[in-house]
Amino acid sequence: MPFYHKLGKIPHKRHTVFKKPDGSLYREQLFGTIGFDGMSTNSYHEHHPTQVKEILGHKDVTPKIAVDTNLKSYRFHGFKTVPQPDYLKSRTTVLHNTDVNIILAAPTQSQGDYFYKNADADELLFIHKGKGKLRTHLGNLDFEYGDYLLIPRGVIYKIDFETEDNRMFIVESRRPIYTPKRYRNHFGQLLEHAPFCERDLRQPYELETNDEKGDFLIKVKKENQLFDMVYATHPFDVVGYDGYNYPYAFSIHDFEPITGRIHQPPPVHQTFETDAFVVCSFCPRLYDYHPESIPAPYNHSNIDSDEVLYYVDGDFMSRNDIEAGHISLHPAGIPHGPHPGAVERSIGQTKTEELAVMVDTFKPLKITEEGMAIADDSYHKSWIEDDR
Ligand SMILES: [Fe+2]
Repeated sequence: MPFYHKLGKIPHKRHTVFKKPDGSLYREQLFGTIGFDGMSTNSYHEHHPTQVKEILGHKDVTPKIAVDTNLKSYRFHGFKTVPQPDYLKSRTTVLHNTDVNIILAAPTQSQGDYFYKNADADELLFIHKGKGKLRTHLGNLDFEYGDYLLIPRGVIYKIDFETEDNRMFIVESRRPIYTPKRYRNHFGQLLEHAPFCERDLRQPYELETNDEKGDFLIKVKKENQLFDMVYATHPFDVVGYDGYNYPYAFSIHDFEPITGRIHQPPPVHQTFETDAFVVCSFCPRLYDYHPESIPAPYNHSNIDSDEVLYYVDGDFMSRNDIEAGHISLHPAGIPHGPHPGAVERSIGQTKTEELAVMVDTFKPLKITEEGMAIADDSYHKSWIEDDR
């Protein structure tokens, strides 16, 4: 998170005596990243957060690769992934490389009697359908349609849904996910030209403090294994914390589009960055206002990045036959651009209602077996003008 946050009660000085009402000590934890060099949070717990009781076993969740080397454009029918009651079981990895997993999830129930922690990766959850509460050991966040939830690696969480029809597009990143550096000044403050500001980033507002001992199951993802770890104390036992490393929410509806007289390039839509991929938000906006502008994008050859677009809502001006829940993959190495007729269709249009999330990865993506199960194998020919 790019700015400081404090929740609950903390002592005046870090690493000093902090007593409970009964005179015993609260237990401090530095929850940091990049060794001791990255963002960190100092949290104060009812109990030592180190009390592992058992490691019951682990389950292999390595993505099964169907297409290892790919030079074909694909369309995936995201809503064909079958809803499942359990959150973790419902997570379906569609695309994968060593930096990132692109995942779809359609859980129908709140997370069961377990907590979850991803020890390897930051998770960016985009809520396409559904409403509920993300509960974490560093406080809670309400979510609804259009929210990005950024959960840094190591945060222990549970998701409660108010709804049954839930659809999520998840980016699981081995690299830390930040807001773009070029939007921030030397001090980390978001600058005037950024398409969002600190007021748009929602911080955890509600801390659950449970002073309980017992058997608490945390499913910990590490190295593509899901470990069942039993802790002796409740994972949500924090009385207070401060720092920079905590989950936060940002609604795509709060992204302020940057427009121009002629077509603006995809970086104006950038929302998050890592050193392995970027995330962009394509939002409803006014079109280019040069009298002879072509609002549809020009053909472009992103020779060194794979482009993934997840279509959320509205009419997708540059594509034919694309619906909400679809994912398109335009791989590095070949040009792509508007579908036949889209350029002509766009001329004279004044605005778009399209809503989409784009992930551009710098390493090629592999397609999983689960991805191929929802793939449209003829999409790569959809630019042939004779096919109109
Ligand atoms: Fe593109």
